Amino acid sequence: MLPPLDDVDRIMDIMAVAFPAEYGEAWNRRQVSDALLLAGTHRGLISADGSSQPGPHEAAAGFYLSRGLFDEEELLLFAIAPSWRRRGLGHKLLAQFVENARQRGKKRLFLEMRRNNPAGILYAAHGFRPIGIRPRYYRTSNGDRIDAITQELVID
Ligand SMILES: CC(C)(COP(=O)(O)OP(=O)(O)OC[C@H]1O[C@@H](n2cnc3c(N)ncnc32)[C@H](O)[C@@H]1OP(=O)(O)O)[C@@H](O)C(=O)NCCC(=O)NCCS
Repeated sequence: MLPPLDDVDRIMDIMAVAFPAEYGEAWNRRQVSDALLLAGTHRGLISADGSSQPGPHEAAAGFYLSRGLFDEEELLLFAIAPSWRRRGLGHKLLAQFVENARQRGKKRLFLEMRRNNPAGILYAAHGFRPIGIRPRYYRTSNGDRIDAITQELVID
């Protein structure tokens, strides 16, 4: 019998297919494993049926990684595998992130995204608002520069 999948395996399976190669946003396994050893780093998963805990041998359809400090938390990575997109899983996973952070007592959530990423529509729908721009922050593989937009959600 196959060994159960662990969450790093699940995250890396999605990482391999979810991020457009030209932006260099995907993390390697070492980066993910090391981040998860740090206090305050959290992961969330979603399975294809929308539940937050895939079965022992079940792959995930999406994941997030976040890091909290005091009453703030930053969303570091957020992705749904391409074959499961546009079915509402991004909405569910983002709601899960916000709710889990709220339960940890967080008051302000942050994230950073490249300008014009369609993910911005999803973030706006959940109340995130742009609060800053880092001009030409991201460099694509063909040398283009893209602004980073910092977004914030204040939790009541
Ligand atoms: C962004 C992402 C997580 C959305 O996941 P998803 O499961 O498709 O999201 P949902 O199905 O819940 O869609 C949420 C809404 O976001 C918007 N949206 C998502 N993808 C979109 C796209 N490619 N173009 C336009 N709007 C889009 C739509 O408004 C959509 O609602 P609708 O389908 O009812 O129109 C997914 O496309 C992804 O993993 N992208 C690559 C990784 C990435 O860029 N992560 C964010 C880094 S900041």
